[in-house]
Amino acid sequence: MRVLLTGGSGFVGGALARHLVQRGDAVKALVRRSSRSEALRALGVELVEGDLTTGEGLDRALAGVEVVHHVAGVTKAASEEGYQRGNAEATRLLAEAAVRQSTPPRLVVCSSLAAAGPARLDRPRSEAEVPRPVSLYGRSKLAAEEAVRAHARVLQAIVLRPPFVYGPGDEVNLPPLMAMARHGLFLKSGFGPKQFSFIHVDDLCEALITAGARGETLSSDDPVRGIYFVADPRPYAWEEFCQALSHGLGRQGARVVSVPEAVGWLAAACSELAARLQGKVSILNRDKAREMAEEAWTCSPERAMSELDFRARYPLEEGLAHTIAWYRQQGMV
Ligand SMILES: NC(=O)c1ccc[n+]([C@@H]2O[C@H](COP(=O)([O-])OP(=O)(O)OC[C@H]3O[C@@H](n4cnc5c(N)ncnc54)[C@H](OP(=O)(O)O)[C@@H]3O)[C@@H](O)[C@H]2O)c1
Repeated sequence: MRVLLTGGSGFVGGALARHLVQRGDAVKALVRRSSRSEALRALGVELVEGDLTTGEGLDRALAGVEVVHHVAGVTKAASEEGYQRGNAEATRLLAEAAVRQSTPPRLVVCSSLAAAGPARLDRPRSEAEVPRPVSLYGRSKLAAEEAVRAHARVLQAIVLRPPFVYGPGDEVNLPPLMAMARHGLFLKSGFGPKQFSFIHVDDLCEALITAGARGETLSSDDPVRGIYFVADPRPYAWEEFCQALSHGLGRQGARVVSVPEAVGWLAAACSELAARLQGKVSILNRDKAREMAEEAWTCSPERAMSELDFRARYPLEEGLAHTIAWYRQQGMV
């Protein structure tokens, strides 16, 4: 299979590149001049320089490709405009370029549970529910999905919405939580229960590949078709996650301390300001605080299980053990 990958220099895209190459696919990756592409080069992936926000390099990258895995995205930005440009606009340019090809490739979009919005306790989200994103990030990912759906009559596209992704290569999500685990103390925003869905990056990669091969495609008449949540089917309470992470790190017991949501918001605002003063963008920001205030970020992978035969290979405890082994190898634990 001739495949184009976007986001190959990132966490999920890097893992997907390894899976695709292992399958024997001929992989091209769209990278920016500034991207860290050594790992892709070492895998034998063909690099095409370009930028999704300007559209540069897209036609060249798409030439002769059968499937596109669009994993690139912006998970933190300093403004709403930054999220829209990096997610919605970038995806729109990619979809338009795909449609310009004489034979448009199938397009698999790595969206997010954030595009659908939060769930209720003990009621994981299903694809049939109307999306209600609560963050700027989530709204930009939903707008990206819509930008692709606009071409549904000519472009075969599939959307996957993963929840919290973890696994080898994650340098953003898990490391700050491991720091809490080392101190034996986890914080929780708000005093009520919180639930989350998770997916190991290898499970996500398998799901993306299967979706590219035989997922139902988006339709302009049916808002639900072609969209899949992919996750470990069991939702976890925040306390269970903290326990599992501590256990994986060989620590006894995890104490979870609830702090008022206002404290979480203030910490996020301070972190955002500190980063801004250094000309950086913090992953802990007010947009993230908006998400953290919700009681459940859970989703049901039932549809992916029945239509894509999706089976999460890694329940959380096992997935964390596998991931922590990688962190140890890297000297990060
Ligand atoms: N990680 C999670 O928990 C999670 C959960 C749900 C959904 N997702 C989605 O999964 C995808 C991958 O996330 P990730 O955690 O792997 O993010 P990541 O590590 O930050 O990687 C983002 C990738 O996108 C590329 N990119 C960004 N803007 C680009 C542009 N204008 N042109 C070309 N490439 C561009 C980056 O390239 P550079 O190397 O040049 O910066 C990088 O390769 C995203 O779409 C995200 O929304 C992630």
